[in-house]
Amino acid sequence: MKGYIFACTNKTEKECFSNMVFGTNRLYSDNVYKIEKGDTLFLFNMDSDTLYGVFSAKTSGKKDIIPDAWKGMYPYQVEVEKDGEIKTARGIKKVFSRMGINWRFFLNKDQIDVLINYLNNPKEFDFNIVRNKISPTSKTLLDDKPAIEATTLWDYPKQSYGKTQKGDNKYAGVTPAFIIYNMIKRYTEPGDLVVDPMAGSGTTLDVCREENRKCIAYEIAPPRPDIIQNDARSIPLKDNSVDMIFIDSPYGDNIKYNDHPDNIGNISAEDERFYNELEKVMKECLRILKPGKVIGWLIGDQWAKKRFTPVGFKVYERLSKYFETVDIISVARRNQTSNTGIWYNRAIRFNFYLRGFKYLLIMKKPENLPSRNLKRKTEWTQYKRGKGQRNRNNESRT
Ligand SMILES: C[S@@+](CC[C@H](N)C(=O)[O-])C[C@H]1O[C@@H](n2cnc3c(N)ncnc32)[C@H](O)[C@@H]1O
Repeated sequence: MKGYIFACTNKTEKECFSNMVFGTNRLYSDNVYKIEKGDTLFLFNMDSDTLYGVFSAKTSGKKDIIPDAWKGMYPYQVEVEKDGEIKTARGIKKVFSRMGINWRFFLNKDQIDVLINYLNNPKEFDFNIVRNKISPTSKTLLDDKPAIEATTLWDYPKQSYGKTQKGDNKYAGVTPAFIIYNMIKRYTEPGDLVVDPMAGSGTTLDVCREENRKCIAYEIAPPRPDIIQNDARSIPLKDNSVDMIFIDSPYGDNIKYNDHPDNIGNISAEDERFYNELEKVMKECLRILKPGKVIGWLIGDQWAKKRFTPVGFKVYERLSKYFETVDIISVARRNQTSNTGIWYNRAIRFNFYLRGFKYLLIMKKPENLPSRNLKRKTEWTQYKRGKGQRNRNNESRT
């Protein structure tokens, strides 16, 4: 038995009641997908500091039960019904805090009981009972998961997370699992199909399975049986059939993945042929992706034998021939083989830089509309410069 508190504001409350649907945004989408028919629900108006209850979930949590509700701002929704007469309690933030309830987390049976008791009779409610009875706030189901990144700088101390290993961290060039986690949380929903055409040790497959996404993983030399042997330049899938692609391609011939003759990682990043072969992969990705859907391509630059090659820019140049840019992320490189004292000394002695980041190029297959040609004007918010605060050039700033 579990409960959940949906939040609303004075602006959004009316629609909750008129539709008998509660909704939230992507931040809480995981929680909504865990809501099952019959779960106990409450509605918390954050502006008026009021709690309404009790409701029960008429359906399990879904996306877009009413797509237009709240102008599409809260698409993760659940249909609700009244569980008896609706009761109201004001000043609820204080009450949550006295009860030790964090409204963003799922409620356990004890918490549901005390909230219902409180709603039934707020004046007579004895908070001493709560202290003895209530068990600690149930943790959010996201607890062993990485954070959803909000900036374009992603940094994570290790390759995997959670209780199960994702991919094989002994596989040369294994992808940090949190990158794939962030990509699928941003750009897919449960049940969507994700494809990794160069899957290596299968990190994408493992992350997708845990997050209830379908996944097809291909690899030129698969190290495990659930990865399909295939050359990424010809993917055996129908046009417009895939919801997201993640690809961590070779960055040149710096890593020996395997002896397969068609391994693109046998070609040097200093050779244009490397980009020509990757471009064939890009065209296949474009073909199989549904319009408007996203591909994430992880790539790093190369510094070898005193020569820098901007592999990231060169791959981006090819990708942008076919895809629209959503954004470019800088992913900090950790636990790299070059993260040693010897390499540190060499970098200073011979005056070069060790690679500190990779690019995650987030691109989108264009919709039918040529959106990149639409005229756009951004209304920038101009911040007033504060008095008395001065920067290095002696100009005032906020
Ligand atoms: C950076 S690794 C991928 C790592 C993987 N994401 C993981 O977490 O283990 C790049 C992979 O591309 C594969 N590859 C190279 N050429 C390929 C091709 N033509 N078709 C399919 N896979 C290829 C390599 O064998 C290598 O495993």
